Amino acid sequence: AQSIPSLKDAFKKDFGIGTALNNAQIEERDPQTTAFIARQFNMATPENIMKSALIHPKWDTYNFEMADKLVEFGKKHNIKINGHTLIWHSQLPPFIRGIHSADSIRAFFTDHIKTVAGRYDGKVLSWDVVNEALNEDGTMRKSVFLQYLGEDFVTEAFRLAQQAAPKTELYYNDYNNEQPAKRAGCIALLKKVKDAGVRIDGVGIQGHWHLGKVPLKDIEESINQYAALGLKVMFTELDIEVLPRNFQGADVGQRMTANEQSNPYTAALPDSVQQQLAADYEALFKLFLKHKDKITRVTFWGVNDGDSWLNNWPIRGRTSYPLLFDRNNQPKPAFERVIALK
Ligand code: XIL
Repeated sequence: AQSIPSLKDAFKKDFGIGTALNNAQIEERDPQTTAFIARQFNMATPENIMKSALIHPKWDTYNFEMADKLVEFGKKHNIKINGHTLIWHSQLPPFIRGIHSADSIRAFFTDHIKTVAGRYDGKVLSWDVVNEALNEDGTMRKSVFLQYLGEDFVTEAFRLAQQAAPKTELYYNDYNNEQPAKRAGCIALLKKVKDAGVRIDGVGIQGHWHLGKVPLKDIEESINQYAALGLKVMFTELDIEVLPRNFQGADVGQRMTANEQSNPYTAALPDSVQQQLAADYEALFKLFLKHKDKITRVTFWGVNDGDSWLNNWPIRGRTSYPLLFDRNNQPKPAFERVIALK
């Protein structure tokens, strides 16, 4: 729909506008979806396909098919790709569970980073080199990497990525790293990499927030503190959950009218929720604009509500409404309020 304003155009002078992409979108199974993505976004992060379980399924076997398609998709549609992610405790290949020696974990770690980052150097803009290495209190999170390689694994990952991908920007990415305790741990970690003389170009704040509870003050302090380290700051997986965390229903349930509940694909949320979502996104983008000199990218974790992982997390089979576009790619009030800031 050409009449819908374009986010990437509206914020062109401010920061990149990204989305997570999944297989169906990358394979261009629906031309209208492709056109919509190309019109709204100039950056993209693969939602799953570059994670180690998918790109490195067996000890000595890589599967680059979808990742290569993603790179082509980006080229064709002027969308810059952020690789996600090289080293993460989650979505690891199943063979990792059978490895019980430091040497073997190190062999996996080294080969994986060299092979994957090397292959896409000059083809992707950037990598989330390490994802989610921290606990909420700022200490290092338990993982197979921490267990066998020790705390220096983060610095080592960036060192290997720097060697394999000299033309690629290298980022650290995490959630809740705008919260003071986790942020302090994150800053210490980022400094450690820098102090080792290893290149790190930016830090990603995932931005999985909750309706009416977007921590604007912590976010602003974090933008300032991370930028003061000389790093690019970006919001990498933005969505605002409208459901209570423990909500079990298959739909937004109590919050919806009977008519809305009868149609699971409705864009309609109770007006109060829709308006709160709009207010939350407006406040957030106001803050982003205030700090546009420090922020390089804002990426949504999905194109529209139907794509969102929050339909299945933390409980499978929910119906959530966390993004700016509804299930038919129609703009929600939140979109209108964000666009109106420009
Ligand atoms: C999520 C995907 O959206 C889901 O499809 C998948 O099942 C699990 O991972 N933090 C991250 C992302 O860094 O990679 C996660 O993506 C969401 C939380």
